Amino acid sequence: MPFPQIRPRRLRATHALRGLVRETSLTPADLVYPMFVAHGLDRREPVEAMPGVDRLSIAHAVDEAREAADLGIPAVLLFGIPASKDDEGSGAWDDEGIVQLATRAIKEASPETVVITDLCLCEYTSHGHCGVVRPDGVVDNDATLELLAQTAVSQARAGADVIAPSDMMDGRVGAVRSALDEEGLGETPILGYSAKFASAFYGPFREAADSTPAFGDRRSYQMDPANGAEAVREARLDIDEGADIVMVKPALPYLDLIRRIKDETSMPLAAYNVSGEYAMLKAAVANGWLDERAAVLEALTCIRRAGADIVISYHAKDAARWLR
Ligand code: PBG
Repeated sequence: MPFPQIRPRRLRATHALRGLVRETSLTPADLVYPMFVAHGLDRREPVEAMPGVDRLSIAHAVDEAREAADLGIPAVLLFGIPASKDDEGSGAWDDEGIVQLATRAIKEASPETVVITDLCLCEYTSHGHCGVVRPDGVVDNDATLELLAQTAVSQARAGADVIAPSDMMDGRVGAVRSALDEEGLGETPILGYSAKFASAFYGPFREAADSTPAFGDRRSYQMDPANGAEAVREARLDIDEGADIVMVKPALPYLDLIRRIKDETSMPLAAYNVSGEYAMLKAAVANGWLDERAAVLEALTCIRRAGADIVISYHAKDAARWLR
């Protein structure tokens, strides 16, 4: 019985009716706010390509985490910029390292905030790669696992509520799980950056975290943007190794994979609305070409509709304000 009996517009007539039949919700409780904490910084340092995002001192990170909590955002994701870098990235597993210090400070000031620590070596290595580089220039997978495991233990001991490996080494989730378990940290969950693509959309982040590779690129460890079946396999591997939550990253160009991995694994799923996605939208807004509030809420809602339970976004605080 098609038109004229069937008229989908009937249910779009008023705000209240639209609300009753809305399929997807977006609330501050779905959001994670990422932050860049820098060692030895005593002021905010704006990130040029990410208007509204600053590199923070620990004290500012504590303020931001509190503000996020007040807005109903349950979690923050921490990235550290160390005082100095070396070949191995030893700042990553320093118990007095920047992420460890920031984690302790945030948990003390705002114990209910879920602190997720990004686990990777690229912010800490002088060459900017996510692992140990062999003399022939190849990133050494298995040698990197030990360093990641050590870093995860250090982060969890500092009070991290969730450990999020973003390095894309094979076997890292398993290595981190075993190390945490052996150290009596068996209750700390792992959020695997399972399908993390070698994306052009990380550019602004690398400015913020000072983590651009000094040579080559990340295509020998991060995924080829053309591959979807492989993304599902990567998610399955992380789940088999003990991941509690899986992630798709970036988000907006990869909505099909958010849906696919959700349907095929039914695991809790996070999507990372990355720095380049943020920068594009902000640039258009700055030019007066997009309505920021409408565009941000639409983008984040659509990431949820695709199947993400958790949306990690630099827009999180603005979105939470608008959603209140
Ligand atoms: C570290 C890491 C990156 C991002 C998150 N963790 C950068 C990269 O892999 O080069 C990107 C986040 C963003 O662009 O917002 N490996």
